[in-house]
Amino acid sequence: MSLDLLIAEAAPLFPQVVEWRRALHQHPEVAFEEHETARFVRERLAAIDGIAVSHPTPTGTLGVLRTGRPGPVVALRADIDALPVHEENDLPYRSRRDGVMHACGHDGHTALLLGVATALARHRAALTGEVRFLFQHAEEQAPGGAEELVAAGVMDGVDAVLGVHLWASLPVGRIALIPGPAMAAPDTFEITIEGQGGHAAIPQDTVDPVAIGALVVTGLQHIASRMVDPLEPVVVSVTQFHAGTASNVIPNQAVLGGTVRTFDPALRERVPVLIDRLVTGTCAAHGARGTVRHQRGYRPVVNDPALTARLAAVVRAALGEGVLAELRPSMGGEDFSAYQQRAPGVFAFVGAGNEAAGIRHPHHHPRFQVDEAALGQGMAYLLAATHALLEGRP
Ligand code: NI
Repeated sequence: MSLDLLIAEAAPLFPQVVEWRRALHQHPEVAFEEHETARFVRERLAAIDGIAVSHPTPTGTLGVLRTGRPGPVVALRADIDALPVHEENDLPYRSRRDGVMHACGHDGHTALLLGVATALARHRAALTGEVRFLFQHAEEQAPGGAEELVAAGVMDGVDAVLGVHLWASLPVGRIALIPGPAMAAPDTFEITIEGQGGHAAIPQDTVDPVAIGALVVTGLQHIASRMVDPLEPVVVSVTQFHAGTASNVIPNQAVLGGTVRTFDPALRERVPVLIDRLVTGTCAAHGARGTVRHQRGYRPVVNDPALTARLAAVVRAALGEGVLAELRPSMGGEDFSAYQQRAPGVFAFVGAGNEAAGIRHPHHHPRFQVDEAALGQGMAYLLAATHALLEGRP
């Protein structure tokens, strides 16, 4: 069947998709606790004629659309989890849960993939191959839900995997497909500085972990600025500094936490070594003891260059020449990378920002919003891409 017809017939689903998104927005759930969200997804999927629903993990859901005709297997992924953020938007559909918010747009991903499933299922008589809909839990919290779904076999036999992220810094109406490395590996570290506490007025009898911790924070800035090739992307951010209980007491210990973002595998190995050296050296120089615990996060998202080029051509032909936008890779992380270990995959950024409408706050912000027109654009993109892949067209 023609793609134009598929997209045209999906358009009337848009109000329903917006309604789903708003319902999800009002009832956000954090990673690994998406029980109501999973039920919402399963009920809606089960209501679509032609889709087999299963749940490989407690809150992850798989929908399978089999056409009964040989052809490629395409997996489409949406993440469903929210964040421990308290919403500050004044909207009729604002979060009804204190301290929990869909502040990254995953409510939109979930709703638009339900719309895509509905549209494709209606046209399964005209399609070939198989489409799998992955409603993945726990994107926001390592070790992430993607690994679990992959381990449960959802990627077995898949020829290509596609994901989208609504993207606030990209204007609504635009789509960005980044060939190659697109999102960084987000690793984390925890530094413990053991000093010697005492009276704040007698510092000479103490080893002050707060003062030494401040030097460590400053020293860590030198990794990106002095120790790594300036043309090589790297971020080292200290995001936590815990020490002390009183204004007149120097504490025994300080604990610092933070994150490292890299793309290059060799640099990913090297930065923790540099952190260790800096922490142990700085601490030793001041008579303290410093230890570091490193934790690996997701692999970097690396889009298959050939598939990306193919989908870029699909976007130009199906959605218009002016839709594709240039976007630089993000130092954010995404466990979509887990699927890309098993099949060529493309993670697309769908513009959801709208400066004129005041939709301009970054992801994870208490005032984060999306322009809901992006839901329609995301649906059209996934329909066009899936249609092209199932037909095996270049
Ligand atoms: Ni996200």
